[in-house]
Amino acid sequence: MKIAIIGSGYVGLVTGACFAEVGHEVICVDNDERKIKALRNGKIPIYEPGLEQLVLRNVSAHRLQFTGSIEQGVDNSEVIFIAVPTPPQTDGSVDLTYIERVAREIASVLKEYRVIVDKSTVPVKTGEKVADTIRRYNKVNVDFDVVSNPEFLREGCAVPDLMQPDRIVIGSNSERALAIMKKVYEPFMAPIMVTDINSAELIKHAANSFLALKISYINALSAICEASGADIEKVADGIGADKRIGRSFLNAGLGYGGSCFPKDIAAFIAISEQIGEPFHLLREVQRINEHQRERFLKRLRDTLWVLKEKRIAVWGLTFKPDTDDVRNSVAIDLVNDLIREGAHVTAYDPKGNQRVQELDLCPGIHLANSALEAVQGAESLILATEWPDFGDVDLTEVRSRMHTPIVFDGRNLFDPATMRDLGFQYYGIGRPLTKAIG
Ligand code: UGA
Repeated sequence: MKIAIIGSGYVGLVTGACFAEVGHEVICVDNDERKIKALRNGKIPIYEPGLEQLVLRNVSAHRLQFTGSIEQGVDNSEVIFIAVPTPPQTDGSVDLTYIERVAREIASVLKEYRVIVDKSTVPVKTGEKVADTIRRYNKVNVDFDVVSNPEFLREGCAVPDLMQPDRIVIGSNSERALAIMKKVYEPFMAPIMVTDINSAELIKHAANSFLALKISYINALSAICEASGADIEKVADGIGADKRIGRSFLNAGLGYGGSCFPKDIAAFIAISEQIGEPFHLLREVQRINEHQRERFLKRLRDTLWVLKEKRIAVWGLTFKPDTDDVRNSVAIDLVNDLIREGAHVTAYDPKGNQRVQELDLCPGIHLANSALEAVQGAESLILATEWPDFGDVDLTEVRSRMHTPIVFDGRNLFDPATMRDLGFQYYGIGRPLTKAIG
């Protein structure tokens, strides 16, 4: 099938590459000329495992191309996906400017029937507004359908998430559009759930806020574990083994970050308030998430006493492993908290160093070239993002390089007994303190 994707950011690019991989002919559109030029030259603007190979392979096979022209995309495709950003406004509600502009632009060049699919994360009822806008701005009264098709891909494993999805949600009230959408997704051989447009839009916000709720639930429990001497990892295994609960997204840590959860939870709260059914529970989810970092800082202060002038090593700056994305990263917030208190922070991230430097996200930070370089002379080490690489570092070498071997593990990556045996004073999240023997 011929498909256009408007917006070649995270979602658009991964979706376009995966559609091409299953045999569709895809045109990715973006109004950022520099990005289009780079993509045409085989330069992928983001780090996502497997994406580069996928893009290069499908460009060579002439199934994937890039353009700055919406008209070219619309003229040459049966289905047009909108995958543009929906950033937050200061009150948490969603800024729909980009969606509205794309709807107008599509309308201005629409000459025959097309299915227009909203893939961006949007408030419920946006589909209706997109359809109204296209109708209003299309001068030749063309027939079209608007469909909602939310994405559920996670950064760091976006390609497998898209190639083998748990489910595909299609919100549509048109049999004609539905038949076309089913052809788009047929090669993925995944369960397709058909709903009305409003329900599909709501599913996206409901899914993300439920996952955030799970994380805040386990983080709130981690505080109770710390106060009572229980171990959150054992508690999470114990409750997660119940199939009705499930173990995933029950990893206690420094809290959730990234470009999705913080924004989507705020947006869902704003929507719920706008429609007169305030979702109070989600405010508590947000509060717990903030509090988790504050609790961690308190633990640092309780242990190290004064943070001013302490040499602190931080491993991990991205909002999660396997990505170079540092947007709304809890690790960055934490580093800035430490710098504000006068600590000397030396950090290392396998993919995030460059972004932090380019965007000057942590003024005063020292960036190291390796995990071992970061801990040289450190008076404590904080693990802020659980890159698997950190699990492979020689901990005996870490201990010998540190001035005082105190480790605060913000993601429970290490085994407390091993850390104790290696001579570390070790603090995990929601776990009993383990002190080195002797
Ligand atoms: C999230 C959802 O998982 C995707 O399904 C959704 O499509 C995406 O948002 C989106 O809306 O586009 P993503 O933000 O890439 O994906 O990353 P997650 O793996 O969900 O992690 C989000 C945050 O939660 C990270 O900061 C991570 O460290 C934290 N987290 C996750 C925990 O603290 N504990 C956990 O058990 C799981």
